[in-house]
Amino acid sequence: MGLIHCRFMQDLAGKHIVLGLTGGIACYKSAELCRLLVKAGATVQVVMTEAAAQFMTPVTMQALSGRPVYQSQWDVREPNNMPHINLSREADAIVLAPASADFIARLVQGRSDELLSLLCLARPAERVPLLIAPAMNREMWVHPATQRNLRQVDADGARVLGVGSGWQACGETGDGRMLEPQQLLEEIVAQFQPKTLAGQRVVVTAGPTFEALDPIRGITNHSSGKMGFAIARAAREAGADVTLVAGPVHLPTPRGVVRIDVQSAQQMLQASLQAAQSASIFIATAAVADWRPASQSEHKIKKDGSGQVPVLHFVENPDILLALAQGERARSGKLFCVGFAAESENLVAHARAKRERKGIPLLVGNIGPLTFGQDDNSLLLVDAKGERELPRAPKLALARELVTEIAARLPAGSA
Ligand code: CTP
Repeated sequence: MGLIHCRFMQDLAGKHIVLGLTGGIACYKSAELCRLLVKAGATVQVVMTEAAAQFMTPVTMQALSGRPVYQSQWDVREPNNMPHINLSREADAIVLAPASADFIARLVQGRSDELLSLLCLARPAERVPLLIAPAMNREMWVHPATQRNLRQVDADGARVLGVGSGWQACGETGDGRMLEPQQLLEEIVAQFQPKTLAGQRVVVTAGPTFEALDPIRGITNHSSGKMGFAIARAAREAGADVTLVAGPVHLPTPRGVVRIDVQSAQQMLQASLQAAQSASIFIATAAVADWRPASQSEHKIKKDGSGQVPVLHFVENPDILLALAQGERARSGKLFCVGFAAESENLVAHARAKRERKGIPLLVGNIGPLTFGQDDNSLLLVDAKGERELPRAPKLALARELVTEIAARLPAGSA
């Protein structure tokens, strides 16, 4: 299992990242980002401005990246004395983290009087993406000059990764914090994924549902939501707009994904119907409770001391996947529906039968007890032509493969 993880988690293997630091207290987070990039298999060349070196020593960044930091365009290490050309040509991406308000303004003007802005200007733009992680005080962030500059760098072909919100080093609270290292890593990994779902709008259901008996108790199941969250992430990496309708799970929302939290199957149905109105792909990974209590007690059901146990009555929940697969959008070919089947035995036969019953083009079978709560899984893809197994692997790796399989089955011109 360890080997499988190693193989798939090196999402940046073979990638060379130029990590540019400019002046801002968020430089302390860039040390962690550098570690994460290296751990993900990338080689990292750090370049720092003079102001960045006030906040973080180049020694720290050298130790973490395993390479001496570049700070000057006059660096004698380069035989041709052109570090701006050499560094920008070697890179698979240039990441500015943190990007200060001043540095973004410099990019807008095409300034090039120090190494980092010089190499950004010299980068072969069609081949080397420039990713910008701004970091600044909230007033600086909302200032029209900053917002104007951000629109301009975006129009000039850079990708602005957004900012976080919360407590700032200056003691104020608001927008403008640099994104967390893990979030930046997710964005950088996503940058390199093939955009097989560009232009698609995807709705994913994930996790269990919770069917309340009373305000304290309810019926649920062991689904962790990990597979659905991985699929939402993979779809977004592939360029889709993604809405994730999530049952009660405590998982972080993948970057750039719109999340709608629900509890019950009925709420999940409503949220899915709503979100799928403009969607082109619906992927039902949720382990929806098949039944819910026929009535929900307003107050906690109490023991009455007699030893009598309560008798519970159930009614069947709506089948969300079926409702969408039978809806107008799916029947007219505008919504491609994918179902999952969680079985405990006889996977091939059950999965085939379930695909027919739900009337969907693609069904993904897995063995419930082997997937619930696990980070790995194996999948059986069943379509009209037959079956194909995706062998055991981390859920994110499987999710990416599934996204590729879905993209290959979409009707031509559906984006
Ligand atoms: N599903 C759904 N709504 C339900 C039940 C299931 O949307 N009320 C979806 C699941 O998200 C999954 C597929 O239908 O994509 C199959 O779910 P599964 O629980 O494996 O099967 P069921 O349809 O419930 O059938 P059974 O319980 O007989 O196996």
